[in-house]
Amino acid sequence: MRTDTPQTVRLEEYRPSDFLIPRIALDIVLAPRETRVRATLSLEPNPAGRAGVPLVLDGDELALVSIALDGAPLPESAYEAGPDRLILREPPARPFTLAIETQVDPTGNTKLMGLYRSQGVYCTQCEAEGFRRITYFLDRPDVLSVYETRIEAARADAPVLLGNGNLVETGELAGGERHYVVWHDPHPKPSYLFALVGGALARIGSTFTTASGRAVALGVYVEPGKEERATYALDALERSMRWDERVFGREYDLDVFNIVAVSDFNMGAMENKGLNIFNDKYVLASPETATDADYGHIEAIIAHEYFHNWTGNRITCRDWFQLCLKEGLTVFRDQEFSSDERSRPVQRIGQVRALRARQFTEDAGPLAHPVRPSAYREINNFYTATVYEKGAEVIRMLKTLIGPDAFARGMDLFFERCDNTAATVEDFLACFAEASGRDLSAFALWYSQAGTPRLAVTGLYDSQAQTYRLDFAQSTPATPGQPTKAPVVVPIRLGLVDADGAPVAARCERLDAHGVFVLAEASDSLVFENVPAPPVPSVLRGFSAPVRLSLDLSDSDLLVLLRHDEDPFNRWQAGQTIATRLLVRASVSGTFCEEAAEALAGALDAFLAAEGEADPAFAAQVLAVPGETEIAQEIGENVDPDVIHRVRDRLRARIGARLAPRLAALREALETPGPYSPDARSAGRRALRNAALDYLAVADPEAARPLVVAQYEAADNMTDRFAALSVAALVTGGDERERLLASFRQRYAGEPLVLDKWFALQASIPEDGTLARIEALRGDEAFSMANPNRVRSLIGTFALANPTRFHAADGAGYRFVADAVTTLDRTNPQVAARLLTAFNTWRSMEPGRRNAAREALVGIAERPSLSPDVGDIVGRTLE
Ligand code: PHE
Ligand code: ZN
Repeated sequence: MRTDTPQTVRLEEYRPSDFLIPRIALDIVLAPRETRVRATLSLEPNPAGRAGVPLVLDGDELALVSIALDGAPLPESAYEAGPDRLILREPPARPFTLAIETQVDPTGNTKLMGLYRSQGVYCTQCEAEGFRRITYFLDRPDVLSVYETRIEAARADAPVLLGNGNLVETGELAGGERHYVVWHDPHPKPSYLFALVGGALARIGSTFTTASGRAVALGVYVEPGKEERATYALDALERSMRWDERVFGREYDLDVFNIVAVSDFNMGAMENKGLNIFNDKYVLASPETATDADYGHIEAIIAHEYFHNWTGNRITCRDWFQLCLKEGLTVFRDQEFSSDERSRPVQRIGQVRALRARQFTEDAGPLAHPVRPSAYREINNFYTATVYEKGAEVIRMLKTLIGPDAFARGMDLFFERCDNTAATVEDFLACFAEASGRDLSAFALWYSQAGTPRLAVTGLYDSQAQTYRLDFAQSTPATPGQPTKAPVVVPIRLGLVDADGAPVAARCERLDAHGVFVLAEASDSLVFENVPAPPVPSVLRGFSAPVRLSLDLSDSDLLVLLRHDEDPFNRWQAGQTIATRLLVRASVSGTFCEEAAEALAGALDAFLAAEGEADPAFAAQVLAVPGETEIAQEIGENVDPDVIHRVRDRLRARIGARLAPRLAALREALETPGPYSPDARSAGRRALRNAALDYLAVADPEAARPLVVAQYEAADNMTDRFAALSVAALVTGGDERERLLASFRQRYAGEPLVLDKWFALQASIPEDGTLARIEALRGDEAFSMANPNRVRSLIGTFALANPTRFHAADGAGYRFVADAVTTLDRTNPQVAARLLTAFNTWRSMEPGRRNAAREALVGIAERPSLSPDVGDIVGRTLE
């Protein structure tokens, strides 16, 4: 625990550091319990800072062993050392060196921040403020240093020793029993990008030749025996490197690039310079153990971390308020990469689904914050969907607004001008303003104003004048700390189609060459001329802005779009809109509109007949009914998750019954002979086949049971096997469910990442008995509260992906998660705080659940000695 209560940090209070540390030499002697860290800091006063002030270095749970200034030990009166800071009272007003020795305990480090051990492997996690748990330092992203790291260990304990940069020296000690390495990273970097790894790891590798002809040694390090499972990650890395050269003109800048997979990791992965450290679930994959979705995530996250080398590392953040500068931009880049490697429309649909489920929910609740927050108490709590996903949407809008050419020039300018600096959002935007000649000051509001704008659009046809008018109105609901909102700049890509779905070639001066209209005011109108008949507007094509759209289209207009719109995203959206309307109406009023359901089912059937086989990945998306969270969000208040679940199941059964013959035929037609391949096309076929299995089971559980069992038994890959198991667990149930779950548990007994799927699936069963099941699973020998993946699988899935049970009317789900959060908070506050965010929809529940949730939250808030992480989330959630 930190001993002080965390202060609020404010963007407006930013000051440059009073000191700089151009160089640091680290000498680290690894040992399980007593790792010794000697840091030699080359310090100097910062001309941009204050003169004559004490030097205050950050620490966190540190113990000082010794300290010397310019080689001479310091008298105790000269400094003050505590667990969370080291103060040098009168530092020299000239460059000087400070040699600091600390000792840390990697084995006892359960927070997985700083230096810790994962399955015996020494590794580090320094973002955001973990370096201060290794040594005293100016642990802030605007202090850039050149690092030289010597690492020493017993050979038996850590035969492989890795650091940032290039390997410059190796040697033996004690007759070969011990060894050391020296790594040098020539690129100045902030402390959060420091990393080291030591352990018994196996390597696969290759050589990548950059566009300018330099050879880079690529390595992926995994647990010995798992090398084969790292080949997809290595391949994804090579494709990422090539793509960044081709699309963004960015070349890699060291002789070595290493990736290490570890089993205990708080997040997905980390972009440490030249030494990325990954949660092993985003590296390891084989057809037998990983699903198509896993392969897709691995590709995206490998790319994401690699792309950080330029957007994050070469150009870093001035302060943590600028987090979106690296994260939003890098998510945008990895999304573009995946879109180029796979199907762009299907990727876009996936991005928007995730955005709505996670970011819109966040924006509508007590934890809402701007893409660039202006204050924080615990920075760990700001690695959010808003910073990442909405941050990426803002970049995408910028590109839509200024066009692809100006966007590319702006990026080039940014890379050139801000290279080797710690930059701000303003620095970034200035490059695009300059490259495009546009004033982006109004656009910048997207960074500082929280909340999801609502966009209402109505159309009016004038048959006399042969004109069509679209009226737009925007408003953004209040969010914590921001009671009033201003209009934002909304790029709206749109077009008109006629009753047969053909594009209408009508004139409208205010659309740009790409069909984009920019709404900059609270309301505005567009008029199209020469429109011979009432058209159907297709608005917000490609989801050109992260807003909630309401459009006064009839179901039959939407069906026209579903069948014919030239924009695949809006085709998909049309189906979703019909389903959402129906489900919201049925949930709120209790009347399920059979005719609307029938019309939708009929349209889906026709759609499948026409193009199910041609683009199965897209078809699988079109078939998927909006999620329960999304429907809850549309309802907005007095939500009863049981009702939503029931009406959604009813619609699914209805669609399943209508589509059954066609789905059965498609399952045959799409069978893929030959060995499994994770490519997007094959994955799309499996996605549609498995969606079909799910619908067949929902429509007629008895009839589907043999199909489900047969697929489970015969599958030669995890995608199909797990899809069958999921249908058994969530839909067909019965004795078969328990039998298959037991068979799966046994079959994958030695595969923690596969068991995660098994835990998660059971945690998501929408039935009464699930909580008791989870309690029992906590006793499974494969479960551990010390492993974040296990915790997220079992408890996180329950809290975030089982709405009927988490929000059980009697409050049992809330109490269970609250207990888990307080228990976990003692060892791993960061993961505990993340779990707690599941409560962020509590105010939108009906009164009974709302009270039960409040009680559970107050119970947490009243505990003594909460971590800053959990204290911050519970405080804001209750505010
Ligand atoms: N910077 C990492 C990423 O998005 C995420 C991360 C944050 C990892 C904090 C660990 C700790 O790529
Ligand atoms: Zn990132």
